[in-house]
Amino acid sequence: MIPETLEYIDNQLLLIDQTRLPAEVVTFRCDSVEHVHDAIYRLVVRGAPAIGIAAAYGVCLAERGCRNAYLAAMDYLATSRPTAVNLFWALDRMRARLEGCASDHELHDALVHEAITIHNEDREMCRSIGIQGASLLRNCHCFLTHCNAGGLATSTRGTALAPIYQLYEEGKKVEVFADETRPLLQGARLTAWELSQAGVPVTVLTDSMAGGLMRSGKIDAVIVGADRIARNGDVANKIGTYPLAVLAHYHRIPFYVAAPTSTFDVSLETGDAIPIEERNREEVAYQGERLVVPVAANVMNPAFDVTPANLITGIITEKGSLRAPIQSIESEFVSVMD
Ligand code: MRU
Repeated sequence: MIPETLEYIDNQLLLIDQTRLPAEVVTFRCDSVEHVHDAIYRLVVRGAPAIGIAAAYGVCLAERGCRNAYLAAMDYLATSRPTAVNLFWALDRMRARLEGCASDHELHDALVHEAITIHNEDREMCRSIGIQGASLLRNCHCFLTHCNAGGLATSTRGTALAPIYQLYEEGKKVEVFADETRPLLQGARLTAWELSQAGVPVTVLTDSMAGGLMRSGKIDAVIVGADRIARNGDVANKIGTYPLAVLAHYHRIPFYVAAPTSTFDVSLETGDAIPIEERNREEVAYQGERLVVPVAANVMNPAFDVTPANLITGIITEKGSLRAPIQSIESEFVSVMD
């Protein structure tokens, strides 16, 4: 069973609390804009598409029928995390819906309807990426992935994991190697959890093992998600994605990115312009309660890095796949958006 990451029931947003997985499966209930902001900021809900869906529902929790309260909610939710463009994309859709609604009495229903539409479109997107990706990766059995770009990061089947679920359901032999993904361990805690829930064989490795594993010849393809893709095809994704792409290039292993077109940001020329979230030192300096970095030492904790387009074999979207050399097909990016 692939889990339902988000549900909107009786004017509450219910989230699987991803900070508690895999030890406990607990629901986090949001009944205010502030709760949703907190949930996104603390990674109770995370992954670019899921953040967008959560923010859309979050807007609906503002004071009912009050145009200014909805607008303030949009501005506030936009401050929750900076890198995943899906957050801003979803909030822009909510704003457009609000602006297109003449009557304040109808605002609430119109906004809830838009959020549900975004959520449903995401399910379709996951399904489509799964089908497109499975046909592209038909001859691959062993996949390496990073962070979590699965059902927990979206409405349901994920982006990077969607083709793997598809192949598995078609009866193909698949095996996944999941980088643990320091410092917050989305690979170990979340990817390994959801794949094992679904019955897909998964092995967790420390991030530093990826090179050795590739050298052993075991990996057929690397597949990851994305938080933002610039016009030239540069991809921001979880910190550690770029070194994986370099390693894959060296070992001649195909490196795929799976992402919806809502992750494209054609307003940015290159990945250099993508804002990279810097998170707090405690995430690196502590393992649970235990201090693992001396107090006097500095810590770097960027949540994402940028992989240049020339290291990417293909980008799998819900509207089709873009193949290397990606830098030379900028116009295809734009046509995929239409
Ligand atoms: O910090 P996170 O856990 O939100 O980072 C998530 C990722 O980097 C995912 O790979 C990305 O959002 C794509 S999710 C389909």
